[in-house]
Amino acid sequence: MGRSYAVKGRKKKRKLGDGAASDAAPTAEEAEELPLPEEAEEEKGKDEAAEGEEEQAVPEGLPVVPRAVDGKRRPGAIFVLERACLEVGKVGKTMQILNSDDHANYLRKQNRNPADYRPDIIHQALLAIFDSPLTKSGRLQAVYVKTEKGVLFEIKPHVRMPRTFKRFCGLMSQLLQKLSITAVGKREKLLNVIKNPVTRYLPVGARKIGLSYSAEKSVNLFDYVAKSSIDETLVFVVGAMAHGKIDKEYTDDYIQICNYPLSAACCLNRICSALEQKWNIQ
Ligand SMILES: C[S@@+](CC[C@H](N)C(=O)[O-])C[C@H]1O[C@@H](n2cnc3c(N)ncnc32)[C@H](O)[C@@H]1O
Repeated sequence: MGRSYAVKGRKKKRKLGDGAASDAAPTAEEAEELPLPEEAEEEKGKDEAAEGEEEQAVPEGLPVVPRAVDGKRRPGAIFVLERACLEVGKVGKTMQILNSDDHANYLRKQNRNPADYRPDIIHQALLAIFDSPLTKSGRLQAVYVKTEKGVLFEIKPHVRMPRTFKRFCGLMSQLLQKLSITAVGKREKLLNVIKNPVTRYLPVGARKIGLSYSAEKSVNLFDYVAKSSIDETLVFVVGAMAHGKIDKEYTDDYIQICNYPLSAACCLNRICSALEQKWNIQ
């Protein structure tokens, strides 16, 4: 596999997502010194697990979507996806994002529950956001993802998300090892591991809305969004895990949007549709 993203520097062993406390994100210099996945492959020694050894393919550079530039300043939406199941493990000779389908035996050998390893949830959630007319119209301001291990990263709105799960895992694996991903030939970081907490990046006065099936306040999302101030940035906090709840401590409101438990992707589709209706995005 060829090197996909330009990264300077030499090898330095360091991993994120292995229980790392994420309050202190590494500097850009540190990030650039981290080993690439293909360099890690060269490390000697055999691992006990042989399953799932096929590499997670990584796109040749991360493409960007042309930005909608019309000079107008309009309110937008920010998404915070909490508790994403993204954890890197060394499977065979390669570093991979662990998942319940491909790495069940590997996880069981380490006394971990395969059911907790569901990176497909965050992949589908991100596709729901990035495929939406809301995003295509330029109204997406930012996406923040926090992993189960507490690693926080930002995704720029004009990123073209890998559509296949394998490529997505390859990209996430690179991100969690290198700590940033740039577009080929450009300096801009399209995905970037940042310091916690996420609140330091949210605009002052932005309304932060947490979603949970078990929230006491039940709303019709379309009415709820329609009633919000036309100028305010809305921040939606949605869980990207299989079980459990989001952290509602920093939210201004905590709502249930349906009488049925939904997938994160389904919730996000609804949120995007409600915003598209409010902002007349056809
Ligand atoms: C697969 S669910 C997680 C399940 C978890 N038991 C819960 O309800 O929070 C993924 C996320 O979708 C959102 N969600 C699912 N159903 C919902 C509902 N009926 N109302 C509001 N949010 C919902 C929540 O943010 C949840 O964290």
